[in-house]
Amino acid sequence: MTRPYVIDQMISAKTIAARVEDLASEIETAFAGTDKLIVVGLLRGSFVFIGDLVRELNLNVEVDFLEASSYGDGMESSREVRILKDLRGEIGGRDVLVVEDIVDTGFTLSHVVSLLKSREPRRLETIALLDKPSRREVEVKATWTGFEIPDEFVVGYGIDFAQRNRNLPFIGKVRFTD
Ligand code: IMP
Repeated sequence: MTRPYVIDQMISAKTIAARVEDLASEIETAFAGTDKLIVVGLLRGSFVFIGDLVRELNLNVEVDFLEASSYGDGMESSREVRILKDLRGEIGGRDVLVVEDIVDTGFTLSHVVSLLKSREPRRLETIALLDKPSRREVEVKATWTGFEIPDEFVVGYGIDFAQRNRNLPFIGKVRFTD
């Protein structure tokens, strides 16, 4: 059982949609001329973001998913990153965009980036919807970031607290009421 909490809206659905549009046009410019962009979503938190992002991308896109363990069901990063589900496709010699929901300590993104780089893609860039720079323990920065946020535990737009609240259309912060 989790402690009782309420969710205070932090970033509205409208603000997210506008930012996703801007990010997509930056990505289009950066990858202009690609024959195919392999968009790799990190499960499960990126599933809403990747869905909105790829629909704004006017590029030839392939979508694949990777699942890495991180928080489990709690609020603390486990630091040890394990790959629970690997990509279905090959990325050697391809253009790749890794889509992450939040960069927090940085362990997940840095682990995934070094794993995927070892497969020798032609180009690998990263995008994170949210970044909590004050929490960073490993030096890593996504190529594109949607929003920098303070050290708050957030949910919604695909992001969960113990598997709940992924379906909220906005990003909200968890506030305990006990
Ligand atoms: P990192 O390895 O510490 O950077 O953690 C990244 C992962 O932790 C993210 O992909 C999220 O799944 C999870 N995470 C980090 N901060 C939050 C949060 O505020 N709410 C929910 N999940 C989070």
